[in-house]
Amino acid sequence: MCGIVGIVGGHPVSQRLLDALKRLEYRGYDSAGVATISGGTLERRRAQGKLINLEMRLKELPLDGIIGIGHTRWATHGAPTERNAHPHIVDGVAVVHNGIIENFAELKAELEETGADFETSTDSEVVAHLLAKYRRDGMSGHGAMQKMLKRLRGAFSLAIIFQDEPSTITVARNGPPLVIGHGDGEMFLGSDPISLAPLTNEVTYLIDGDWGLVSRTEVMIFDSEGNPVTRPRCASMALADRVTKGDYAHFMEKEIHEQPQVVARALTHYVDIAGRRVAPLSARMDFANVSSLVISACGTAYLAGLIGRYWFERYARLSVEIDVASEFRYRDIPLPPHAAALFVSQSGETADTLASLRYCKGNGLKVGAVVNTTESTIAREADAIFPIFAGPEIGVASTKAFTCQLTVLAALALGAGKARGRICEDEERQLVTSLIEMPRIMRQVLENIQPKIQLLSRELSEFSHVLYLGRGTSFPLAMEGALKLKEISYINAGGYAAGELKHGPIALVDENVPVIIIAPHDRFFDKTVSNMQEVAARGGRVVFITDERGAASSKLDTLQTIVLPDVEEIVAPMIFSLPLQLLAYHAAVFKGTDVDQPRNLAKSVTVE
Ligand code: M6R
Repeated sequence: MCGIVGIVGGHPVSQRLLDALKRLEYRGYDSAGVATISGGTLERRRAQGKLINLEMRLKELPLDGIIGIGHTRWATHGAPTERNAHPHIVDGVAVVHNGIIENFAELKAELEETGADFETSTDSEVVAHLLAKYRRDGMSGHGAMQKMLKRLRGAFSLAIIFQDEPSTITVARNGPPLVIGHGDGEMFLGSDPISLAPLTNEVTYLIDGDWGLVSRTEVMIFDSEGNPVTRPRCASMALADRVTKGDYAHFMEKEIHEQPQVVARALTHYVDIAGRRVAPLSARMDFANVSSLVISACGTAYLAGLIGRYWFERYARLSVEIDVASEFRYRDIPLPPHAAALFVSQSGETADTLASLRYCKGNGLKVGAVVNTTESTIAREADAIFPIFAGPEIGVASTKAFTCQLTVLAALALGAGKARGRICEDEERQLVTSLIEMPRIMRQVLENIQPKIQLLSRELSEFSHVLYLGRGTSFPLAMEGALKLKEISYINAGGYAAGELKHGPIALVDENVPVIIIAPHDRFFDKTVSNMQEVAARGGRVVFITDERGAASSKLDTLQTIVLPDVEEIVAPMIFSLPLQLLAYHAAVFKGTDVDQPRNLAKSVTVE
């Protein structure tokens, strides 16, 4: 998604704006630009594609100026061209925008009637035209901003500079996050604290409806009615050092291999390693007295939630209502009294997940956030935070965040089971022991399966369609395997409950559609093997991912099999994630796609 930065500085800003934009690259973007006031005139440089193109443009045509704004654009309205890139400049007003102006067509028509000449196909340009019009009508920047904000519908964060007010950046937030950073005689702004970390760790988060004026020494914030408001200054924990790939070819590869370490770190916060017990949760969420649980999230985080549902139902005997957040928020769902709700999100900024959280909170539910970014909006608005401790995840395809989400959800389900008297001490000890052993097994799997996976992925990369099947927790895992493959290799893939095979997907099976079957030797194993036979009988190419017990009992020698160690059922989804992630990763590498920033995708989806 788009990223915004800004600096009201004491010395030139364009290089620092570029550096801050680089720290937002992980979000995904397709063009970029900066604008500064240089010698009393607003000037901008923009470029299609990666930031290196903007950097070259700035080398050819440097920008002076000690105040400026910058933007990485993830196209929504209008193609990802230089012409559509931000900042948009109209009559001495420069605007960068993250979000969607829902009523832009209406505003554009109105402005065109008064003679406005639009240069781009973006929704964002209306903001610059509206402000320019109000300035021409004689309003100050402050007055124009206040009037303009009343006209906008949709989600936005904005940073604006007026050529004739060269010591102030005007900002607004209604949806996508915006953070102000306090420096020494300088002020900064960014879409997240990570973008500002080398500049300052002292930040103020704007909340929805806020807008303000940022100068070198002062920040004035107003609510939507124009009343001055105070927002706290807090210390950000974002690290200044940029995360690097180390010896790995891609962030995704590095993040896959980090999993044993980060999952182990997450566990230390949720289980008592020495005592083999789950850590008490009641101070954060009183699972003992909730009537049921609601879970909502998007994408991979939703699939983690789906797996979590099996655990909460099984170990805590809690019934779970779960849906993707983009549907959940609009279903007008009657929420059960005394239910609790969990929202799962790596970034903590996903717009639909945040809206679902607000819906539940507004209806009186106690809400918990299972998040990686503990300074995010979702974390800040939740009643209880359950961090997943995955560390910065840069690859757009989520890997280590997924297994850390699973680890935390497993521990929460066991904690809830214990609080509700649904698991006894022996069971608790046995389940926690298997969680504790998981990082070691992950390490062993990552060391052993690479050669086989590489061969399989080369084959897989030549197909156009792939099916994934599983039962129980392996069903959502099948969906996750399919999502991972399509995200980064652009191969069409679908994940299904193996029991659904005969209800439709089997029609796709032939020698051109590999079928990846996820079958740990659990209570569903025999049924899944029957489905595998049905695929094989129809000439389907089966890739069988099982464990040692499964391999020993299935006796199918015609198959390509990946054999993982035997593990407890609760740990299987984390262990079986590894071959799925590696298959997707290597298939994408063989196809030569942009693994870490796949086309059209953004890391942080801050609009609907
Ligand atoms: O930041 P979030 O966890 O809320 O993001 C949710 C999804 O956008 C995310 O999981 C997406 O599906 C990933 N690209 C999956 O790899």
